[in-house]
Amino acid sequence: MIDRVKKYLKEVQSFSSTDLKEIESFRINYAGKKGILNDLFLVFREIPINEKKEFGKELNKLKDAVNDKVKHLQSQSKMSSVNIKIDDPSRTAFSLETGNRHPLSIVKNRIIDIFTQIGFSISEGPEIEDDWHNFTALNLPKHHPARDMQDTFFIQTNPDILLRTHTSSVQVRHMENNQPPIRTISPGRVFRNEAISSRSHCIFHQIEGLYIAKDVSFADLKQTLKYFTEALFGNSKIRLRPSYFPFTEPSAEVDIYWGLDTETDYRITKGTGWLEIMGCGMVDPNVLKNCDIDPQEYSGFAFGMGIERITMLLYQVSDIRLFFENDIRFLKQFKSTI
Ligand code: DAH
Repeated sequence: MIDRVKKYLKEVQSFSSTDLKEIESFRINYAGKKGILNDLFLVFREIPINEKKEFGKELNKLKDAVNDKVKHLQSQSKMSSVNIKIDDPSRTAFSLETGNRHPLSIVKNRIIDIFTQIGFSISEGPEIEDDWHNFTALNLPKHHPARDMQDTFFIQTNPDILLRTHTSSVQVRHMENNQPPIRTISPGRVFRNEAISSRSHCIFHQIEGLYIAKDVSFADLKQTLKYFTEALFGNSKIRLRPSYFPFTEPSAEVDIYWGLDTETDYRITKGTGWLEIMGCGMVDPNVLKNCDIDPQEYSGFAFGMGIERITMLLYQVSDIRLFFENDIRFLKQFKSTI
């Protein structure tokens, strides 16, 4: 079996073409849904455990070789097609490269669109925050252990000033300045002192949601989330798992049912079919009090999600760092409808 993989590797390495159509059929043959790679990954699942290591290594080598080859040939072929004789005065001008809306902006705008259609306003707050708005008012007093859930960048000369770790700080600012009924979403950039890897980055983006009025219940929260996931993913099969956030009680994490149809589904859902997309809950009465809203009169729900995470799911992007490199070849693959 392993010899077959090695034979494919040789074939891939020796393949060459400048014809885009030929390159595409090469790509489909190896990396398409029903392609050789997917077949081999299925075989991988079945082989005895002691052979998995070596087989997996060769298989990954083959996968990388296919991707590299396709990228290389595609860019070569594009370069040769713009190789027009420069001294020909009748040639048409080269077209100017235009930019492209960033995938994170595309998804942010879609989410904003979905919520503004049901009456949510948009609110924003500062990225450099104080301790009160980022933590204390959100029911996270000094030395509360849950502060460790988010590794914080502090401003060295003043421990009271920090880079906000979440957009929940905007909830507080909005409630301080507005009376219920409140329906708002707050998109923005947040910062955490974390190592950069394919799954995490120290700068990322969130959207926070807040709804405060009379008699708001958990059922309202659930219905709003169902509407949202249906509109964004075309799939409203969600589940709420009990969780903990200091600013909500009760709190939950929202999973969307992704399915287990393909090898990729299996990998990204760790074999469960479910994917976590956000945190949410009923706003804790302490948070309302901290913002001068009477919890006897009003109740509400809040939720918060990472835009990178949602974008990675929607477009099957496997490395968060791609969003920050701004390689135009990556960005050009995303088309905006809004
Ligand atoms: N602020 C949380 C975080 O960054 C996300 C979150 C969870 C926001 C629950 C909420 C909420 O408003 O109710 O991890």
